[in-house]
Formats: sequence, C-alpha cells, structure tokens
Amino acid sequence: MAEAAAPVNGTRPEGAVTEADASKKVREMFTQIAPRYDLLNHLLSLQLDRLWRARTARRLQSILDRPDALVLDLCCGTGDLAFALARAGKARIVGADFAHTMLVRAREKSSARASPRNQSAAPPMPFFEADALRLPFARASFDLVTTAFGLRNLANYEAGLREIQRVLKPGGTIAILEFTEPPDGLLGDFYRWYFCKVLPRIGGLISGDRSAYTYLPNSVARFFRPPELAALMCALGYKSVDFRAWTLGTVALHTALRAK
Ligand SMILES: C[S@@+](CC[C@H](N)C(=O)[O-])C[C@H]1O[C@@H](n2cnc3c(N)ncnc32)[C@H](O)[C@@H]1O
Repeated sequence: MAEAAAPVNGTRPEGAVTEADASKKVREMFTQIAPRYDLLNHLLSLQLDRLWRARTARRLQSILDRPDALVLDLCCGTGDLAFALARAGKARIVGADFAHTMLVRAREKSSARASPRNQSAAPPMPFFEADALRLPFARASFDLVTTAFGLRNLANYEAGLREIQRVLKPGGTIAILEFTEPPDGLLGDFYRWYFCKVLPRIGGLISGDRSAYTYLPNSVARFFRPPELAALMCALGYKSVDFRAWTLGTVALHTALRAK
C-alpha cells in the first residue's frame, strides 16, 4: 500500500497551538457537552451511529465470542460502543476516556444495565479515566482495542496509534471507526452543507456549545482520508491493515493487527 504523507500531526481546536492546548480544549469541550452528547449523537446522525457501532461489533464477532478476550474501548465517551461490544459476545470489555463527565454518564448507563430490574442484567463495566496518549495499562494487555470517533480528537494521531500498539497483545486487533468526508459530487456537497451549516446550529442550540459542533466538521476535514490512515498504520508496523467505507463514504472502519 502506498505510503501517504500525514497532513497533520493531530487535532487542533480553534486557538490551540500546541499538543497540550489541543488536549486541554478537547477535554473541556467533551466535559461541557456530556449531558447532551448521546441525544445529539442519535439526532444528528439520524440514529445511524447505533447502526455503525453494531456493525463494528459484528465485524469483531470472532474476538467478542471469546470469554477469555480482554477488550479496551478507547475514547469510550458515554460508553455506547463498549456496550454494543458487550451485547455482541462474551469478551470482557473495559472503557477509557479522559473526560470525567462523559465517564459519569457511561457509569450511570452501565449501572442501569447491571440493575437487577433489567432482565438481561450484565455486571457493571469498568471505566477508567485515562489519556489515550499515556494509558495506565501494561504493554500487551488487550486482545482488541477499539475506538469510535475518538482517534480524530487526539492531539497526536501517531502517538495514539503507537500507544494502542503498546497495549495490544502481539497479534491483537485494532478497530477504528471514524467519520470521513465523502467524495466530491452531489452527495459530498450535500454532506458538507449539512455537516458545516446545519449540524453546528442544531448542536449549538441543544448543547449550548456551538463551537463543539463547529469543531466536529473542522476536525473531520483535518483528519486523514481512509487510505492515508491505512498508510500510516502500515508505516507504524500494523499488519493486515484494511478499511471499509460505510454509508456512502461518510464513515470508515479501519482494522489491523499488531505484529506478532
Ligand atoms: C466523539 S467522542 C466519542 C465517544 C464514543 N466513543 C462514541 O462512540 O460516542 C470522543 C471522545 O474521545 C475522548 N478523547 C479525546 N481525546 C482523548 C484522549 N487524549 N484521551 C482519552 N480520551 C480522549 C473525548 O473525551 C470524548 O469522550
């Protein structure tokens, strides 16, 4: 696969110059929008976010079926991908994120799932407050590391991919679900109009933080195109790098293995 130059090192919300600024701003932004995050996710994606997470889980079924498999959902936010993975199989799932209020919501949802009143009661899921660039886990800990709409928010994408590599077992799987910009043309134009004009207004009105929903299209525009991300993963030593674009090229799932 051809190696493409990385367009940027990491996310840079407006006003952020250094990696430290970027991390701080991203963390503050998610801390602020946490109470409305799920509602807006489902609303603005027309519920497609649920489908994308369920589809991701299905693609990882062979790992999730193993009761001995340990899975980290990184940048887990309010836990929706972690719960989708848990529903799909028997593997042990843990989540990690650096925004405390997102984790508070994840823990509430986990407790509701674990409640004895819930017929299919599941044990509470562990959620760790941790920075994806400095994970508090030993090397070679996980069989699978997933991240949904998370990698794009890291202040240093390459450092994030290396840190995931460190905590994956040799032969372990990485799965990255992320927004992408569809190709130019009618659909691309409609997407950009919706993403850049409509979504920030609705997001701003409901969350009270318009800048967070202006950041979303800006960060997607700044992030890698799927072949570029695949090339970077290859360059970092990941094996069997593959990606699938879904929903007319608006999201992509990248999968790869840590070398043995
Ligand atoms: C768009 S949300 C995605 C949440 C969830 N994965 C989902 O599918 O809805 C991005 C999440 O990444 C987290 N995040 C961004 N940078 C991070 C970092 N350096 N370390 C840990 N979490 C980070 C944010 O706090 C936020 O919860």
